[in-house]
Amino acid sequence: MDRHFLIAIDGPSGAGKSTVAHALAEEFNIMHLDTGALFRALAYAALEAGLDSQDPDQSAALLDQVTLEIIFKDKKQKVLINGKDITSKIRTEEVSLAASNISVHPTVRNYILEKERELAEKESFVLDGRDIGTVVLPNADLKIFLLASPEIRAQRRLSDLLNAGISNTDYDQVLEDIKKRDAQDSNRDTAPTKKADDAILIDSSELSLEETISMIKDIVAKKLETGNLNG
Ligand code: DC
Repeated sequence: MDRHFLIAIDGPSGAGKSTVAHALAEEFNIMHLDTGALFRALAYAALEAGLDSQDPDQSAALLDQVTLEIIFKDKKQKVLINGKDITSKIRTEEVSLAASNISVHPTVRNYILEKERELAEKESFVLDGRDIGTVVLPNADLKIFLLASPEIRAQRRLSDLLNAGISNTDYDQVLEDIKKRDAQDSNRDTAPTKKADDAILIDSSELSLEETISMIKDIVAKKLETGNLNG
């Protein structure tokens, strides 16, 4: 791709944003930034430091103690806290909930916002998150808001967990966690999960992952073909 362009994929947790974003990045040979991983990294650091991610002061104090770095090795994103790669440690349910908690605080959001914009300025990216199209990159070339019902997302999450060999969890618990995070992420004051006015809404509840990916690839390809990336 010759020109610099940015694709924003927002939506609730478990809608398949990250997988879709990854596939798009491969297809169009651009970078993928999983912005949830940045909140997760800080949440993990807070847990390690014994700080309460629900507390705004303790979360602000964390930012004085740690440095978050995002690097790419063979296009794969890594998150580093004080120089240490913690990428493999941020996918637990404990970190998921703490990430949702810490992402409520404006100081934390501003810290991450700067890093997101700094990266997006340099190269073409597909970014997935909650507020990319609304707050981080309101001028993104293409915006997608990817949805699926909480029940479908819970089913998908459960099968991911089972595939990963984690069997000590049940559907009702997963559904409850999803609803809790949805409520917190959508109702916070700063940069809640929200469809941008100019985002294309895709409900993947009735679609397979492959169908969702193929549909979005077509949308991007059409935009590129017509050269109309800003519409
Ligand atoms: O996408 P994820 O599940 O990895 O994100 C973890 C948490 O981080 C999510 O519950 C809310 C927060 N988040 C956010 O507030 N803004 C983003 N752009 C991405 C994630």
